[in-house]
Amino acid sequence: MRSLLGVKATLATLFMILFLSAIASASLASLQIGFYQSSCPSAEAIVKKAVNKAVSKNPGIAAGLIRLHFHDCFVRGCDASVLLDSTPGKPSEKENPANNPSLRGFEVIDEAKAELEALCPKTVSCADILAFAARDSAFEVGGIKYALASGRRDGKVSLKDEPFQHLPAPSLNAKQLEEKFALKGFTLDEMVTLSGAHSVGVSHCSSFTDRLFSNSSNLPMNTKFAKDLKKKCPALMGNGNDPTVPLDVLTPNRLDNKYYTNLKNHRGVLISDQTLFSSSLTAHMVRNNARNGVAWANKFAAAMQKMGSVEVLTGNQGEIRKNCRVVN
Ligand code: HEM
Ligand SMILES: *[C@@H]1O[C@H](CO)[C@@H](O)[C@H](O)[C@H]1NC(C)=O
Repeated sequence: MRSLLGVKATLATLFMILFLSAIASASLASLQIGFYQSSCPSAEAIVKKAVNKAVSKNPGIAAGLIRLHFHDCFVRGCDASVLLDSTPGKPSEKENPANNPSLRGFEVIDEAKAELEALCPKTVSCADILAFAARDSAFEVGGIKYALASGRRDGKVSLKDEPFQHLPAPSLNAKQLEEKFALKGFTLDEMVTLSGAHSVGVSHCSSFTDRLFSNSSNLPMNTKFAKDLKKKCPALMGNGNDPTVPLDVLTPNRLDNKYYTNLKNHRGVLISDQTLFSSSLTAHMVRNNARNGVAWANKFAAAMQKMGSVEVLTGNQGEIRKNCRVVN
């Protein structure tokens, strides 16, 4: 009798555990590696082809796509809200000064989407296409390779004012950057690691010129570097004239750890870059990343995987857009 009760109790516990774990996995409806393996087997290959074609013509597009994915994920999660065009009376995220006019790479997403709609209609989300494109870009310009889970769904809302609330401004200091990234679930080290994306691409002068002409942040800048930047960025930028400069003066088109070497040499472009070496919170992380490129690349890959799962829509949430610029 006693042992029978024991068996019953054990069985009940076992069922309880199975039941609870079933609930947990259903409500997570998590992203999976190879999500399109049966529904659209060439999905990832088609995105990769579009990315490689665009990046071989212009390596800056790789930077553009990596940044697009970041600006998507930090605002309403990775739901392709950044890709939506404004509609009459309803300006979208694209109109926010954090995005306009500097975001680039939209045509690559459009091209991949058009090809995918022809092949597997209403199957591959724009949010996944963008996440794949950022991953492929990191490989093209940095040889950084990582598997990427998919199954994201596309959101239906994009509001002009939201990027300002969620994206870090280039004037922030290390402590403020830590706080912004913590709101999205990232550690201080992950924030410093992801900032290494500024090893590719460009910045418009307007994002940092106050550093050159008023030195309001009081962060150090190499004298020769400051002189070069002043030459490229005129003090008074009238007529909408806003040139660009590379974010990484050493290897502008290579996604590598030279960004951190620049910071050590006081050649960071943005306040939010140079602060990472000036703050005692993060200076040792900058030194470590500058010293060990392989460790940084591995951390970068892991942080990109994590960024790609921020606040995602899955299962039957959202939709699969037919055109990445408009809701269905
Ligand atoms: C740490 C906080 C960050 C701040 C304050 C910041 C800010 C900026 C700014 C102001 C620009 C230049 C925009 C312009 O004037 O043209 C820029 C460019 C860029 N950012 Fe960030 N960013 C941050 C983090 C990130 C992260 C996490 C990523 C991706 C993982 C990223 C990827 C890029 C790339 C690739 C570019 C160059 C884009 C291009 O050439 O088209 N940034 N960022
Ligand atoms: C700004 O001021 C700091 C501290 O006085 C100095 O080290 C730095 O070189 C200055 N930066 C520029 C761009 O002149």
